[in-house]
Amino acid sequence: MTTKIIGTGHYVPERIVTNDDLAMIMDTSDEWIAERTGIRQRRIDTGEGVVSMALKASKNALENAGITADMLDMIIVATSTADDLFPNTASLVQRELGNHQCVCFDLSAACSGFLYALNTAHAYIKAGMAKTVLIIGSECLSKTMDWTDRSTSILFGDGAGAVIVTEAETGIESVVAHSDGRKGEVIICDGRPLENFLVKKNVTYAYTQMDGQEVFRFAVKTVPECIHELLDQAKIGVEDVDYFILHQANERIIRSVSKRLRVPLERFPMNLHNYGNTSAASIPILLDECNRNGLFVPGHKIVLSGFGAGLTWGAALLTW
Ligand code: ACO
Repeated sequence: MTTKIIGTGHYVPERIVTNDDLAMIMDTSDEWIAERTGIRQRRIDTGEGVVSMALKASKNALENAGITADMLDMIIVATSTADDLFPNTASLVQRELGNHQCVCFDLSAACSGFLYALNTAHAYIKAGMAKTVLIIGSECLSKTMDWTDRSTSILFGDGAGAVIVTEAETGIESVVAHSDGRKGEVIICDGRPLENFLVKKNVTYAYTQMDGQEVFRFAVKTVPECIHELLDQAKIGVEDVDYFILHQANERIIRSVSKRLRVPLERFPMNLHNYGNTSAASIPILLDECNRNGLFVPGHKIVLSGFGAGLTWGAALLTW
């Protein structure tokens, strides 16, 4: 018995911000951003927030799976940009979906969040503790950006993706996940500073800060290693995999992974040109687009791989 994806959905805010739009508020250009990252535009939230985006993606996924919300045993939301510290995003999605029995929690693993959430749902299902799980990646990264920092703010976008997984005979074949806190400082966004009746501070709100070149080096080394580990576990080779769905951070990272694995780039679907890096939402948004475009057929072998702050990274192999 394993875990199968039976439905996918996504939602992105309506407001499109192109590279040319950004060039009006900072010293950059469409040419620089497109050449260094592959990104041409991103969606930016103008006020609805992470819960609303998660809810819309979830309704889309439930409809695609052909099930109703009352059949869910669990909702996991992967996010680093929740609207509130509590209640958690998953409980707020549950309230709107009208299922008041299922277990709800959020999970924070930055751009690896969706992969970690998928692995967690798989573990619950294999342990017999859940049968059907809604997994969402929903992010409003634009609120964590310093829009005067051209090296980081141009990379990110807002949006949500969701999948429904359930117990089945075929589906996930192997999973791997890793974390290494020693290099955590290469991508950070500080939390709320301590301020109470004992400690007085001038509260400053921090933004996402990144050492781009270190993140680049980390990604191009660990993702191929992690995919080899995953495929060795399943005793198959890269040539047996139909599609590689990687976290959509940067086209140059994906090109480099394709080269290192010696797999043609055509087997790495991408949509980062349209959405930028949506962190935990990027993999489920891409999965939904590929699913709805009819790219996947039953029996296809698909590798998912996420990597990001922590540092965290992971991968999953599944039969569609
Ligand atoms: N527009 C124009 N010029 C810029 C911009 C910009 N938006 N940003 C930086 N520059 C300038 C710099 O100031 C620098 O100028 P200088 O030479 O006069 O000092 C020059 O461009 C080169 O800057 P670098 O930082 O060396 O540029 P690099 O080629 O490394 O590209 C980038 C930067 C795109 C961030 C790259 O390092 C990268 O892709 N890293 C991966 C980061 C990533 O994908 N993170 C995703 C988030 S984390 C995650 O999802 C895992």
